[in-house]
Amino acid sequence: MSIFDKCASYALAREVQALGVYPYFWPIEESTATEARIGGEWKVMVGSNNYLGLTHHPKVQAAARAAMHKYGSGSTGSRFLNGTLDLHYQLEDRLARFFRKEAALVFTTGYQASIGAIAALVARDDHVFLDKLDHASLVDGARLGYGTVHRYAHGDFEGLARRLASVPAGAGRLVVSDGVFSMEGSIVDLPRLVAVVKEHGAALLLDEAHALGVLADDGAGTARYFGLDDQVDLILATFSKSLASVGGVVAGAESVIHYLRHHSRALIFTASMPPASVGGVLAALDVLEAEPERRERLWANTQRVADGLRAMGLDIGGTQTPVIPVIIGETLRSLQFWRALFDEGVFTHPIVPPAVPLNSSRIRVSMSAEHTDEQVERVLTAFERVTRTMLVT
Ligand SMILES: Cc1ncc(COP(=O)(O)O)c(C=O)c1O
Repeated sequence: MSIFDKCASYALAREVQALGVYPYFWPIEESTATEARIGGEWKVMVGSNNYLGLTHHPKVQAAARAAMHKYGSGSTGSRFLNGTLDLHYQLEDRLARFFRKEAALVFTTGYQASIGAIAALVARDDHVFLDKLDHASLVDGARLGYGTVHRYAHGDFEGLARRLASVPAGAGRLVVSDGVFSMEGSIVDLPRLVAVVKEHGAALLLDEAHALGVLADDGAGTARYFGLDDQVDLILATFSKSLASVGGVVAGAESVIHYLRHHSRALIFTASMPPASVGGVLAALDVLEAEPERRERLWANTQRVADGLRAMGLDIGGTQTPVIPVIIGETLRSLQFWRALFDEGVFTHPIVPPAVPLNSSRIRVSMSAEHTDEQVERVLTAFERVTRTMLVT
């Protein structure tokens, strides 16, 4: 038997391609903050996490260009060795203050921040506890650590409490949760989660990927939204969504960040965040702070689309954020629904098992502050047309 047998017999993606409903790897030929040209046609982009619409902001682009000019196109080395720029430290200081933590550590991607932090912290004899709907990067970080991994049913804090109580007294315990769940658009019940974590003397890591720039008056995310910053030990966030770049950060106590600097393999054994990205993120933070009206616009767009979809009788689950799932159910039907929207000029994402449970396949829409009224209208009109032809019998 060859190691490659599984590749030769892997048929599913090709079958979906043959049906003309394959939704992945479409090349974008040109883009604005809210539209993408694909196959020569401009589509309204509601499949990106460009919540504040900063990817094409002149200040962000200028800062990225300036950093590239000053430091070059790449860092060509690890943070540990030649890959640390003064800009990385500037960004870390800035983010530590933003998240009200003693220190912060910047990684090359959000995914690496997840695996880098969790795997380094959860050592043999430690225990890590994850919500079943936590992002894959958190799960992978837990798997890479040498400790024991526990998964609790989504939002089941009693189940979490039972598991926390079942591990040997004195064992290290880390609870890991998304702040905003990326497939549901729902916000974690942080007060209840914190209560359980504290009662059992555990530590809490909160992934603010979809909350940064979105939740709280200043956009700091879920912990700030609930006024519980000081109860969350570690904040994890990515720069690939509201901050319009690529990279990730972990913020927390100085001693923890110092430890991660010297033990996190996903930090040490990879090249650092490139200069243009660091420069762009610093400028994106300036804009996030200087233009709070972007958040207002984001929420107004979110409300309009959520209301419009609900009015069509569509099931948008329990979303509370600009991530809006439209639950279709059966996988092939969801892919067909996605394709029909695509042909109507709207770029969404189909989310199918194993990312979501069987028969809960969905179309995911993510809103941006930069979507115009006319684009919002185009999205709703497309959903209306497709719903009428596909779902109403
Ligand atoms: C909740 C969550 N955490 C972490 C990540 C990883 O971030 P990045 O894409 O910046 O590597 C993502 C990105 O999809 C995410 O949605």
